[in-house]
Amino acid sequence: MTLGKEKISFLHLPTPMHRLDRISADLGVEFYLKRDDLTDFGTGGNKLRKLEYFLKDALDQGATMLLTVGGAQTNHGRLTAAVAAKYGLRSAIVAVDPYPGEVSANLLLDGIMDCHVYLVQKLAGQSESELLDEAVQKITEEWEDKGEKVYFIPMGGSNELGALGYYDCAVETAAQTKELGLKDPQLITTVGSMGTYIGLAAGIANEHLPLHLTGIGVLPYRDIRASVKKYYDRLRAVYELPALEEGDFDVTSDYDYGAYNNPVEDVRRAIYYMGRMEGIILDPCYTGKTFNGILKMLEEGRLRPGSTIIMLHTGGMPGIYTKHHRLLMEEELMDHIHVI
Ligand SMILES: Cc1ncc(COP(=O)(O)O)c(C=O)c1O
Repeated sequence: MTLGKEKISFLHLPTPMHRLDRISADLGVEFYLKRDDLTDFGTGGNKLRKLEYFLKDALDQGATMLLTVGGAQTNHGRLTAAVAAKYGLRSAIVAVDPYPGEVSANLLLDGIMDCHVYLVQKLAGQSESELLDEAVQKITEEWEDKGEKVYFIPMGGSNELGALGYYDCAVETAAQTKELGLKDPQLITTVGSMGTYIGLAAGIANEHLPLHLTGIGVLPYRDIRASVKKYYDRLRAVYELPALEEGDFDVTSDYDYGAYNNPVEDVRRAIYYMGRMEGIILDPCYTGKTFNGILKMLEEGRLRPGSTIIMLHTGGMPGIYTKHHRLLMEEELMDHIHVI
């Protein structure tokens, strides 16, 4: 139970946290990875911690189906499908997105887990959020007419309830840093729909944990600091949490490369570097962009040599196989294919 809310614990926690020896030596820092990519279902990822809370709420309400929204290649949708499958529920994803021309990456995994994906086509001048709301209502009615009870989970699982999954992760990570005897650890995470960052921030502030939290935005926010503060205050409206000011949030938009899920050469280089140094796979949309941001912060002196950095690996590996990323990587990596 966290802040009065219950969850159904289906994860084997804590997730591992380990030092990346070759990268630490190469970069001149103490580099640790917190492996939330190694969570149990649907190939793993950060949304599973949020889903422990949503599942409890859904089952309490008698739901028989989980429905969520996101891009066609949503990781959150894939993990919602995984949890639904495990608990014998139906699942569906609604996305405002054109059909990508192939059933690859997360779409393939969604199908394997029997999740229905509804792709809504946007016409010029239409509002994306209105389209999404209308489609969610229509799909909900269709399934409820067939006798299902639909439980809706917002984009990225990022609301007051989902964020608690990362409140718990902050507590878990702080215990691991203590056990490992880490000095002034800086925990760095991706900021997408923000639930992960806000949950961690709430846990750190409320439990007085000795962790410095940094968020790296992977999509363009007009004012990322104002947005995180607004989200945090939404939590404060529900739970008793300490007041925080905009200046208390360490978040940056400096490494978002102007768009969400866009192919970026620097990011691919960061992914290859991690793969070649440590045998760990990052993705082009979230964790690769975040790791590239860390490398840039080191180059720019925004992270100190010798400091202790913990990057949260939030999963997302299927993103590697999304067509627009995969084709570029295939071209760049062709020299590794030898037909003899
Ligand atoms: C792999 C991965 N990492 C990070 C994030 C960002 O997490 P949040 O949306 O909670 O900011 C997401 C969100 O979809 C994700 O799929």
